[in-house]
Amino acid sequence: MGRTYNIAVVPGDGTGPEVVTEGLKALDSASNKFGFKLDLHRLDIGGDRYLKTGEVLPKGAVDELRQYDAIYLGAIGHPDVKPGILEKGILLKLRFELDQYINLRPVKLYPGVECPLKDKQPEDIDFVVIRENTEGLYAGAGGFLKKETPDEVAIQESINTRKGVDRCLHYAFDYTKKRNRKKNLTLCGKTNVLTFAFDLWERAFREMSLKYPEIKADYAHVDAITMWFVKNPEWFDVIVTDNMFGDIITDLGAMIQGGMGIAAGGNINPEGVSMFEPIGGSAPKYKGQNLINPLAAICAAGMMLDHLGEETAGRKIEQAVMDVTKNRIKSLAAGAMGCSTTEVGDMVAELVAK
Ligand code: IPM
Ligand code: MN
Repeated sequence: MGRTYNIAVVPGDGTGPEVVTEGLKALDSASNKFGFKLDLHRLDIGGDRYLKTGEVLPKGAVDELRQYDAIYLGAIGHPDVKPGILEKGILLKLRFELDQYINLRPVKLYPGVECPLKDKQPEDIDFVVIRENTEGLYAGAGGFLKKETPDEVAIQESINTRKGVDRCLHYAFDYTKKRNRKKNLTLCGKTNVLTFAFDLWERAFREMSLKYPEIKADYAHVDAITMWFVKNPEWFDVIVTDNMFGDIITDLGAMIQGGMGIAAGGNINPEGVSMFEPIGGSAPKYKGQNLINPLAAICAAGMMLDHLGEETAGRKIEQAVMDVTKNRIKSLAAGAMGCSTTEVGDMVAELVAK
């Protein structure tokens, strides 16, 4: 028997529990095949709990979560809770408190998946966005003056610390090297307008690039990047950017890889506990109907194994997902897959076991 990993499972809201169930099937299958053990601990965190108890994040939850080897998250977001409360109080709070300073978002077009870009094939869309995940506009710096008067002022500041930028860039350069594909790292910024924040980013980037002579380090403005994602996605290998730009361009990335049904991400603290999630949200209108696509959650499970050091098992899950997109489902869209949520999960689990 190999290693045992302690995993916190947070199914969360809406269709979160359904997709997590399918992800756990894939994990179970992988652990049997590859000889490691997963010790799963379910935590009741999310909108339902908040509505029942008035508590967004249960007391002690952060410290409890710190004890695990990884966190597997379904979705946070509830139609009866005002937007922002759960997102800020749970998802962002965990990212910040657990210092998950990297948001890792692979953008990969799997075979058989319909791409909205004309004439683009799987070989054209295969890059990774590394988003700084604890600073920038998300840091919450700013405030109001004269709130709710005609003279109201709202200020929201982007926080960019040299240490925060350097640790993110360091991860990005190392990741590009390890990925060993085009060995190209692109800094995505806005140096022509945000002349303080991205001046720091660009200087730090140039300086660090000297330590990685094997990596081709280049720069692109964020607005241009959105054009090129659509026109020439094949240009990209790894992209590193700040929190806000990363948030925006990764949704565009999800769309060119076929949509939210397949997009997964990791919130990573390389020195601590990391959290893996499908990025599509809780999709409450599909709750309980066995129609939602679980592949994004399954991909997140694969990323988690890869992060834990079970790379072969992680790759096997990804290959099983690719088999399913190529040969077994009609579409990624909820209700249009040609089979149910549980059937997709069963197929993946079976393919992983083979
Ligand atoms: C994401 C999400 C979150 C973010 C929201 C839900 C707070 O959009 O993970 O990209 O903005 O980071
Ligand atoms: Mn987002």
